[in-house]
Amino acid sequence: MKSSILVVDDDPGVREALRIMLQDDYHPIAVASSLEALEKLQKLPVVDLALLDINMPEQDGIETLRKMKEIDPLVEVIMVTANKTAEAAIKTIKYGAYDYVTKPFDIAELTAIINRALEKRNLTRMNQALTTELEGLIESDMVGKSPAMQAIYSLIEKVADSDSTVLIHGESGTGKELVARALHKKGDRSNRPFVGVNCAAIPAELVESEFFGHERGAFTSAVARKIGKFEFANGGVIFLDDVSGLSLPIQAKLLRVLQEKEIVRVGSNEVIPVDVRVIAATNDDLKALIKLNRFREDLYYRLKVVPIDLPPLRARREDIPLLIEHFVRRNCEHQHKPFKKVDPATMELLCNYNWPGNVRELENLIEMMVLLASGNTLSAGDLPANILTNQYLPEASPEASEGIPLKKARQQFERQFIVRVLEKVRWNQTKAAKAMGIHRNTLILKMEELEIREARPKP
Ligand SMILES: Nc1ncnc2c1ncn2[C@@H]1O[C@H](COP(=O)(O)OP(=O)(O)OP(=O)(O)O)[C@@H](O)[C@H]1O
Ligand SMILES: [Mg+2]
Repeated sequence: MKSSILVVDDDPGVREALRIMLQDDYHPIAVASSLEALEKLQKLPVVDLALLDINMPEQDGIETLRKMKEIDPLVEVIMVTANKTAEAAIKTIKYGAYDYVTKPFDIAELTAIINRALEKRNLTRMNQALTTELEGLIESDMVGKSPAMQAIYSLIEKVADSDSTVLIHGESGTGKELVARALHKKGDRSNRPFVGVNCAAIPAELVESEFFGHERGAFTSAVARKIGKFEFANGGVIFLDDVSGLSLPIQAKLLRVLQEKEIVRVGSNEVIPVDVRVIAATNDDLKALIKLNRFREDLYYRLKVVPIDLPPLRARREDIPLLIEHFVRRNCEHQHKPFKKVDPATMELLCNYNWPGNVRELENLIEMMVLLASGNTLSAGDLPANILTNQYLPEASPEASEGIPLKKARQQFERQFIVRVLEKVRWNQTKAAKAMGIHRNTLILKMEELEIREARPKP
């Protein structure tokens, strides 16, 4: 659809000349006075831009400009001036004019300015639309409108008020903690504590005392009584993050606490009742860990009363532009920079990338891009190499990939990738897992699944 341009000039010759110049690419509407111009602006459904003569007899150009902006703040106005000095026209920019042109017109210059102004208008409109879309979602701090995310939102609404145990599963960076916090915030325990524990990060010998507390003298370093996380969380929610990182003995103790709803501090006989809602999270395939005897099956079923599966970002690509918008806005605000747009080619690259680190990877990338960007646009030059080359996708040559299901192609690629990393660190699984940003158990599962065996030649 052509953009409509209001031409405001008292000189019929100029009006006609402009109308002819513009009619091929735009939809010009010519009027002879400020009054008519304001009328049109009020009546017509859309006027994208106005060319406003500043020197009309008995009409103040600046006043007209002001009124136009009052009627439609989004209309872009380009002032037209006859005198070469153009001082008055320059002044109008302060009042919201986009730019000015001097008569006689240079057609190339005029169209260039018009197109720039129209582009600005489109961006402003797009931003406004996105902002309204975002406002509805910001309430829970979760962004995304894909069907998959909407299903998650409605599940959160449904189960927030219950006391049932929730097991959140999803790849790293998909928003598991965000979901756990949303469940707390929306539930009837929201004014009680939310206590997070990273199960994989606590040394095995300290987990029991971290969870359940200890009495003074319970062990050598227990110089004072300590209250455990479950007691802290009493009445509220405990978030057991990375739950697959628990050792089997602690898993057994946890299961008992979930069933009996009471704890015993280390070094004590006293049984303390606790009323805690448990939300657990993992990025491992617990069923596979059960087969490997690394996770208790009974605990698994006890935890996954309400299972929530967070899809990876690459499975809901329609959320990527919204998330980018959200993170660009947030970072610009934090860094006190004017809002930056993302140029379309860059947006496309970002939408096609595979995001192995999911929303967290995207969030970190946008933070870096906003920090380093010099202009007002984030462009491909600001992207790191792995996104420019989409390093995580298998080669998409038609012959090679024809007839191979995506799952198989991904497995082939993953296998090569993991073997390469393992070789680099001489098959040290802990180091390899760290290098890839995954838990060691995840690596072990992957190796099992992809039949990767150490191929190190014996010295
Ligand atoms: N839908 C979303 N909207 C906005 N921000 C999100 C969304 N999902 C995740 N994030 C952000 O991405 C980051 C990672 O999310 P979160 O910590 O919840 O992921 P996680 O699944 O717990 O990851 P990990 O397994 O690595 O612990 C956080 O900063 C979070 O705020
Ligand atoms: Mg997490």
